[in-house]
Amino acid sequence: MNQVSEIATAPKRRITSLKALNPNLQAAIRRIPAERDAYTDPAAETRPNAIFTSQAHFDLEQEKIFKRFPVPVTLSALLAEPGTVIANDGYGIPLLVTRARDGVVRAFVNACQHKGSKIVEDCEVHKQGRLTCPYHAWTYGLDGKLVGVARADMFKDLDKSERGLKELPAREWGGVIYVQLDGGEPDWSNLSDQVAEDFESLGIPTAHVYGRKTFELKANWKLVLEPFLEGYHVQRLHAASIGDLFVDAPNIVDMFGPNVRQLSGRIGYEPSMLDEDADANIHKLITHAYTGFPNCVVITSQYYISVMLLKPKGVDQTTVEYFMLTPGPAETPKAKEVFERSYELIVKVFGGEDFRAAEISQAGLSAGVPETTLYCGLEENIIRYYEHLEALMK
Ligand code: FES
Ligand SMILES: [Fe+2]
Repeated sequence: MNQVSEIATAPKRRITSLKALNPNLQAAIRRIPAERDAYTDPAAETRPNAIFTSQAHFDLEQEKIFKRFPVPVTLSALLAEPGTVIANDGYGIPLLVTRARDGVVRAFVNACQHKGSKIVEDCEVHKQGRLTCPYHAWTYGLDGKLVGVARADMFKDLDKSERGLKELPAREWGGVIYVQLDGGEPDWSNLSDQVAEDFESLGIPTAHVYGRKTFELKANWKLVLEPFLEGYHVQRLHAASIGDLFVDAPNIVDMFGPNVRQLSGRIGYEPSMLDEDADANIHKLITHAYTGFPNCVVITSQYYISVMLLKPKGVDQTTVEYFMLTPGPAETPKAKEVFERSYELIVKVFGGEDFRAAEISQAGLSAGVPETTLYCGLEENIIRYYEHLEALMK
């Protein structure tokens, strides 16, 4: 028995059925054609090499996208309880995200207002009601207020209310925590209410974070994103792992502003399968793949959901924060084994196959070849997405 079929024998536990999904998502799933009826027109679109290799293009993306609009920093599921804190350095800015006793998620620059020291040094989840700077022990509430200063008598006229942590606008969106990195007035208009509703239907805000892993890749962030927007590579790149579970068939694609929702039937899919058992696990039939603006990827599998935040670090460098979400913690030895195998498999597939593909593409593109990348009919979602990015970069 191979790893994939073992996952399919997962023990009975909380599952998501079609009827548990929101009406818009249900209707979209019902539009997926049978595998044999699926058809895509050929296409031949190109993009210049420079979008993956030019420093000027990278800088423009930073200015027009990543510093201009709120970006995903981490997941609500990591901060499920009030009184939790996590630091995040993925965008090259030390950030601190908290959920205070009032339940509100806030983001701050992870820098003490005394002399700038990082307050939380690692990127683990901490359950605590206060934040204490390791340097001289200034203490802050999870709402960012400075509440304690060691030897306060040694500071002349210190007004604690002026030395709270620097707060950045933040918001939870379908279980993803978005932050306006430059601290400016946030423009939330690129985030889709429908996508947030879908993520809620899929249980992302309340999921259990079974595993997470950070990958440092030598590839432009868009090269890391591309495989999650096309099915062309699946049967080829993943031939030895998951390729035989998927067909080349086109998927049902909906764009919500610059957010992409791709829904596809698994191999041998027929629409009538949706009504065979109203309580069946919808993830056995349908794969959901989202690109949340600008760099948040969500892919559903039979028993877990993968979320990836693709954080640009340099023109040819990306930090990927991968999260495997399950409906709850493993409660039985069998569930534990299934989750463990799933985690190993998915890290191997994404890390060893998709991310590797991004790195080997970057190698050629950085050598100037090809001068333009070429996209076929099975890759058209990439172009649809790039058109939105390009419009925002004007
Ligand atoms: S730098 Fe934080 S207390 Fe001094
Ligand atoms: Fe892939």
